[in-house]
Amino acid sequence: MTQRFVMALLIILSLATSSIADVTLPSYPKGKGKYCVEPTDVMRRDHFEYLMHHRQISVHLGVRSKKHSLVGCVDCHASQADDGTYISVNEPGQFCRSCHVYTAVKIDCFSCHAAVPDAVVKQ
Ligand code: HEC
Ligand code: HEC
Ligand code: HEC
Repeated sequence: MTQRFVMALLIILSLATSSIADVTLPSYPKGKGKYCVEPTDVMRRDHFEYLMHHRQISVHLGVRSKKHSLVGCVDCHASQADDGTYISVNEPGQFCRSCHVYTAVKIDCFSCHAAVPDAVVKQ
């Protein structure tokens, strides 16, 4: 955990100074709209806490809010190819993946959860 914390701290610091940092920083598509579900700097630091908490109250306590739903993350953070099809947020270079590769984080969420917006999966 300590090592992870240091990693998280390092990336936060390096993203904060990205204008003067080197070219090895991850670059990924921007989210849709103006705002994330929490302030961007808070999301950068704590997004997994929100996700885990939301999973906890949603799955175990049956609370159905949408604010920190994983479906929402994918809706706003999946980008579209030139032909309009959605690209998985977990593809190399895409939002969730690029940052996690950079920080050596592995998540298994998308082996069960859709990594492209829901509407597309249901078609
Ligand atoms: C309504 C659209 C929307 C939703 C829903 C949304 N985001 Fe965001 N998110 C944004 C925008 C806009 C930004 C700021 C621009 C950017 O950096 O992409 C952002 C920023 C972020 C950042 C910081 C990126 C950086 O460069 O520092 C993270 C991490 C993030 N979102 C994760 C999530 C997660 C996880 C969820 C689901 C719990 C989520 N977002 C839901 C639109 C959204
Ligand atoms: C083995 C399959 C599986 C894996 C792996 C998995 N989930 Fe889930 N998750 C589920 C199921 C099933 C539900 C309940 C579906 C529902 O309630 O709509 C759920 C519900 C959720 C919810 C609440 C509903 C929502 O859409 O927000 C969140 C948040 C969530 N999972 C996050 C995660 C995260 C983050 C990871 C990775 C760390 C993850 N899950 C990995 C199967 C999985
Ligand atoms: C700005 C970079 C960045 C972006 C973008 C990003 N993450 Fe993360 N994520 C991290 C870092 C750094 C950690 C590890 C932090 C720690 O464990 O202390 C992490 C950890 C996680 C974890 C917890 C993994 C574990 O095993 O503890 C989940 C779940 C997660 N991210 C989901 C997502 C999802 C879903 C998206 C896309 C919607 C996303 N992240 C986008 C940087 C990012």
